[in-house]
Amino acid sequence: MKARRSVRSYLPRKVEQEKLNAVLEAVRLTPSRHNDQNIRVIVVRDSALKQQIRQQAETQPMVEEADVLLVFCATDRTDFVMPCGQYGYVVDMSLATGFALLEAAEQGLDTCIICAFREDAVKDLLHVPASARVVSMVALGYGADNSPRKTKKNMEEIVSYDRF
Ligand SMILES: Cc1cc2nc3c(=O)[nH]c(=O)nc-3n(C[C@H](O)[C@H](O)[C@H](O)COP(=O)(O)O)c2cc1C
Repeated sequence: MKARRSVRSYLPRKVEQEKLNAVLEAVRLTPSRHNDQNIRVIVVRDSALKQQIRQQAETQPMVEEADVLLVFCATDRTDFVMPCGQYGYVVDMSLATGFALLEAAEQGLDTCIICAFREDAVKDLLHVPASARVVSMVALGYGADNSPRKTKKNMEEIVSYDRF
């Protein structure tokens, strides 16, 4: 967790299949509401496809530069609202994305979560069914970015005990 940070520039270096597999295994083991596992992760490695997706993601260079682009889709039951009032699929996909980020860091890989994209266009490009939702994408590769780590709030600012 301490090694992870968002990296937005990537080397033209391939991600080893076993490292990619470890990241995908982390996604597979992610908890989901009712253990529904309504997830499809699309692994995009095709350069032309990544270039097209980039055009639908505010032309963010990492979409194309990173060797792998993971696209997290909720496959069905996307209308289900949990008793807490939140859409279940959004929480499920968020967790799966987070697990992928952490395992990638464990594998010595760099990542950036990307949600600034046009969902309809990405769905068209990746042949995602109309009933499914694309929630997030992750650029995955070897970073070329030495920018300083973002500062985080102090513990006292984000934690309280017993009351808000
Ligand atoms: C839901 C979500 C959406 C994000 N979308 C983008 C994005 O589209 N492009 C981008 O460069 N970073 C994106 N980020 C990365 C955040 O900017 C980054 O996590 C934040 O600045 C903290 O930096 P850190 O990840 O290095 O700790 C997103 C992060 C989250 C959690």
